[in-house]
Amino acid sequence: MIRQAIIPLAGLGTRLLPLTSVFAKELLPINGKPGIEYILDECIDAGIKEVIFIISKKKEMIKNYFHNDAFYNKILKKKKDKRISAEYNKILKYKKIIKFVYQNKPLGTGDAVLKTKKYIKDKYFLMLLPDDLIIKRNCSKDMIKVHKKNKASVMASMKVKKTNVSRWGIYSIKKKINNSNFLISDVVEKPSINDAPSNNAVIGRYILPKEIFEKLKFQKKGRGGEIHITDSIKTLIKDGKTFIGHQFTGKYLDCGTHSGYINSGLEISKL
Ligand code: UTP
Repeated sequence: MIRQAIIPLAGLGTRLLPLTSVFAKELLPINGKPGIEYILDECIDAGIKEVIFIISKKKEMIKNYFHNDAFYNKILKKKKDKRISAEYNKILKYKKIIKFVYQNKPLGTGDAVLKTKKYIKDKYFLMLLPDDLIIKRNCSKDMIKVHKKNKASVMASMKVKKTNVSRWGIYSIKKKINNSNFLISDVVEKPSINDAPSNNAVIGRYILPKEIFEKLKFQKKGRGGEIHITDSIKTLIKDGKTFIGHQFTGKYLDCGTHSGYINSGLEISKL
């Protein structure tokens, strides 16, 4: 059973500068609702009971957003406003399931994940990258089904343009399980067009085994001098651990760039 999810939020967000010099991009409204709430709703709907946020001192605004009880209580005492009351209840619902851990130096996604080591209770856990929204279908829920059936790790995936492979983790297929699920034989972090084994990209949803922490402890820096989760996944695959690429059916929205962010709002407003 997958009961815990982790969400790395401690990155610098350089692609959304200058906004991210003072603001947490995950709180930016997408069609009126902070991006992170879409991710939380996906988790809750997929049956997740606890969500671990990896933040940094610079991103404490995110913690404050969910821990602002005094503020709401004061307003609600003065004003019996139904909308504010409903918003506060929603925040309280999220607050109940969120735990915070800190990564104060952005050494990479792998290092961020390692910070959650002592809190992970089960054999497998879910990780979601908040820049990657998937709408129209709960990708995490579908991946949990694939995990249950195959007792394996699962990564969300989609085909990308060959010219864009260097933006993603790219995997090669060992065997087709069915039309949307593939056994993975290798994965490379942001390869050049020439080095890419395919155009199957890993998107920000992962069901990872607890063993990943043992690999992460010794994971050396990779591309761009960062500790990448993909490099430890590669080692686990080499060691014989099963990883499945799940081609999701929902629509992918990238909120981590200026144009992607604007487009995400437009797409969600059409739903
Ligand atoms: P990215 O490196 O893709 O994005 O991290 P970023 O740092 O948020 O933004 P850019 O690339 O500088 O514009 C993917 C996810 O991992 C988190 C980020 O917050 C993001 O959600 N992350 C990244 C960490 O938590 N810690 C890190 O050291 C690096």
